[in-house]
Amino acid sequence: MNLTIIGTGYVGLVTGACFAEVGHRVICVDNDASKVELLKRGGIPIYEPGLQEMVQKNTASGRLSFTNNTAEGVEKSDVIFIAVPTPPQPDGSVDMSFIERVARDIAAAMTEYKIVVDKSTVPVKTGDRVSETIKRYCKAKVDFDVVSNPEFLREGFAVGDLMKPDRIVIGVRSQRAVAAMKEIYTPFKAPIIITDVNSAELIKHAANSFLALKISYINAISVVCEAAGANVMQVAEGIGLDERIGRRFLNPGIGFGGSCFPKDLSAFIKISEQVGYSFRLLQEVQRINSEQMERFVKKITDTLWVLKDKKIGVLGLAFKQNTDDVRMSPAIDLCQRLQKEGAALRVHDPQAMEKAKPLLKGVTYVDDMNAVAEGCDALVIATEWEEFKALDLDRAQKALTHPIMFDGRNLFDPAEMGKRGWIYKSIGR
Ligand code: UDX
Repeated sequence: MNLTIIGTGYVGLVTGACFAEVGHRVICVDNDASKVELLKRGGIPIYEPGLQEMVQKNTASGRLSFTNNTAEGVEKSDVIFIAVPTPPQPDGSVDMSFIERVARDIAAAMTEYKIVVDKSTVPVKTGDRVSETIKRYCKAKVDFDVVSNPEFLREGFAVGDLMKPDRIVIGVRSQRAVAAMKEIYTPFKAPIIITDVNSAELIKHAANSFLALKISYINAISVVCEAAGANVMQVAEGIGLDERIGRRFLNPGIGFGGSCFPKDLSAFIKISEQVGYSFRLLQEVQRINSEQMERFVKKITDTLWVLKDKKIGVLGLAFKQNTDDVRMSPAIDLCQRLQKEGAALRVHDPQAMEKAKPLLKGVTYVDDMNAVAEGCDALVIATEWEEFKALDLDRAQKALTHPIMFDGRNLFDPAEMGKRGWIYKSIGR
């Protein structure tokens, strides 16, 4: 099919590349001309495993192309996907101005029936708003459908998540649009849920809030474990083997971050409030998340006493592993809190150092993870990068004034660390 994706951020670009990969002809539109130029040359603006190869391959075959001309994208395709940002506003609600702008641009360019699909995460009832906007701004007065098709990809695993999704959710009104959406998604061989637009929009917020709740739940359990002398990792294993619970998203840490969970939680709480429900359960999820960070900082200050004039090595800046994304990163938040206490920092991240630089100033960026500990009073693990497990512990032990590690992601074994002579503090064990 001929498809257009408006917005080449994480969701838009990965969706476009994967649609082209399964044989559709895809036009990706972005209003940032320099980004479009970069994509045309085979470069990609983000780090995402497997994406660059897929973009290059499909661009070369002619199935994937890039433009900054929305009208061209609308004209040449039957189905137009909206994948533009919906950033949070200071009061927790969502800034819908990009979606509204794109809806108007699509309307202005429409001369025949089109299916307009919203892929961005949006508040329930956005579909109605997009329909109204298109009706108002479309001069040609043509028929159209508005569909909600939320995206569940995780950064760092985006290509895999999109090629092999757990489910595909399609909120739709007409049978004509159902048929087109099924045709687009048949190659992906995943269960397809056809529902109404409002329910599809809600599924996204309900899913992300539930996952955030799961993380806060295990973080709360980690506090009880610490107080009771139990091991949260074993508790997670023990409850996770119950299929009704599941082991995934039960990793305790310094809290969740990123551009989705914090924003989607606030938005969902706000949306619920607007429809008359005070979602206190989710407010508690937020509270546990911020307390988790405060508790970790306290662990550091309790051990090191005064942080002023201390040097701390921090491994990890990205909000999670396998990404260069530092938006709402707990690791950056942690670094800033340590700086505020007067600590000097030596930091390393396998991918996110460039993106961290504008946010995190006055620290020493170290290219080699094994050199971070040089001259430091303690080491901190802030992101769950797999490669940190291969840290040269003997070298770090020699480089530190005293072997102290605060592991915010439980990457090492406490018994083993104890045997090696470390003061090792992790989460919930
Ligand atoms: C999330 C959802 O998983 C995805 O379905 C949705 O489309 C977008 O939001 P993402 O933000 O890319 O994806 O990352 P995810 O892997 O979900 O991790 C989010 C945060 O939770 C990270 O900060 C991560 O470190 C933290 N996390 C995750 C935990 O602390 N413990 C866990 O067990 C899992």
